[in-house]
Amino acid sequence: FPGDQLYKTAYHFQPPKNWMNDPNGPMFYLGVYHLFYQYNPYGAEWGNMVWAHSISYDLVNWIHLDHAIYPTGPFDINGCWSGSTTILPGGKPVILYTGIDAKNHQVQNLAEPRNLTDPLLRERVKSPHNPLMTPGDDIDPKFYRDPATAWQGPDNIWHVIVGSQIKGQGAAILYRSKDFVNWTRSKHPLHSSANTNMLGCPDFYPLDTKSSEGKHVLKASFNSHDYYILGDYIARTDKFSVTTDFTSDLQYDYGKFYASKTFLDSSTKRRILWVWVKESDSESDDNSKGWSGLQSIPRNVVLGKTGRQLVQWPIKEIENLRTRNVSFQNKKLKIGSLLEVSGITGSQADVEVSFDLVNLKEAELMDPIWVDPQLLCSQKKASAQGKLGPFGFDQSRSSLREGLDKTTYGAFVDIDPLQENISLRSLIDHSIVESFGGGGRTCITARVYPKFAYDKEAHLYVFNNGTQTVRISRLNAWSMRNAQIVPVKTRREPK
Ligand code: FRU
Repeated sequence: FPGDQLYKTAYHFQPPKNWMNDPNGPMFYLGVYHLFYQYNPYGAEWGNMVWAHSISYDLVNWIHLDHAIYPTGPFDINGCWSGSTTILPGGKPVILYTGIDAKNHQVQNLAEPRNLTDPLLRERVKSPHNPLMTPGDDIDPKFYRDPATAWQGPDNIWHVIVGSQIKGQGAAILYRSKDFVNWTRSKHPLHSSANTNMLGCPDFYPLDTKSSEGKHVLKASFNSHDYYILGDYIARTDKFSVTTDFTSDLQYDYGKFYASKTFLDSSTKRRILWVWVKESDSESDDNSKGWSGLQSIPRNVVLGKTGRQLVQWPIKEIENLRTRNVSFQNKKLKIGSLLEVSGITGSQADVEVSFDLVNLKEAELMDPIWVDPQLLCSQKKASAQGKLGPFGFDQSRSSLREGLDKTTYGAFVDIDPLQENISLRSLIDHSIVESFGGGGRTCITARVYPKFAYDKEAHLYVFNNGTQTVRISRLNAWSMRNAQIVPVKTRREPK
């Protein structure tokens, strides 16, 4: 039986031990990427929240530094919860975060770097004016958190949204400020949603990296998923105009994926997405492993060609970990056949495959009652016979142990199979599989805890359970090397 540490990842970010959840305040500063995250210094369960801090020069290899933000005053004495970084004109990176105050109310606080010439930003000072924002009479102090990255309007006024609830509906409350310290709540929220009673971890950003107007994304976390809407932001009126509310159709990822946050990488002008991928095993499993939670591989986010959805792709730096390679082209996969992809490490791999549907006219027609792809996939499973396919990832058969979350995930992919192949890229790393369908149009992340198929015992197959032959137009797979993710010793060990 594999030791529990076998479920640790080789190139996905995780702390050396204990509980981790949301990514917080990611940024690029003086040549260094910073990732902060929700962390429990005392155990593998959620609690005692601080901001842990790690830095990287390439978004792949990481150094853990000392905790960045931890309770120090009445405004955050019961926990330092999620928040974001804003880079002020001139380059100063400031952090807005939620503090849990002495009354267990959620309030918003400011922290600034102590030394702007330190690229590692090792020390911070908290504003003497904290808390800067407190819930008004109409807001439940338990539903008031996770300030997003702020933006400046044409009149130089700062704007920021905070996740909350107003009159029972999820709301992205809007605040304005001239000096980043004194904030006034706007009469109307930037958006409110009838589909949730708490608009958690809001993220709001322009798709044009050079403008703070135009097409914007608003993301919210609720019901264990990250939903987004695309709309137009008009700075002059401060209105975000949308044609729909959050729906299950538009999610960053249809699998295990929550509390994501993006930042603008000023060195490459990329919009980069981080996310917490929680465990699927039980709390007692986490306690015996001594850890819980991973971060996804950072993803580059852009608007897809149709303009209807976002497209995500793992940052290209991760390809530097690719090593042994297997590739082939134009291989027929007959009905019922199984093809082993040998020569690479199945448990630590990057696999790209695309299929050509030779007999497309034989495909099943879409039944209009199939509106819920996840339900469809759960009913059909990977072993069920369709005409072409199924294509996908069936988490239900990924672990033999009981007591795990083995939800089968499923989602539609918006492609035209007459014009393009069906493609899938999967990043496999011991207990996590991140999959990108149709070049990143549909993403599904899952957790797996194989009892026997671990390390060298993990085998990779392409199979055809359909009733028609399909052709693998191309398969390209690599073993992945380990990323270097190491703690830095800040204190000298006594001899
Ligand atoms: C989301 C969340 C946030 C909160 C943080 C606390 O996972 O609940 O809303 O700030 O985690 O750890």
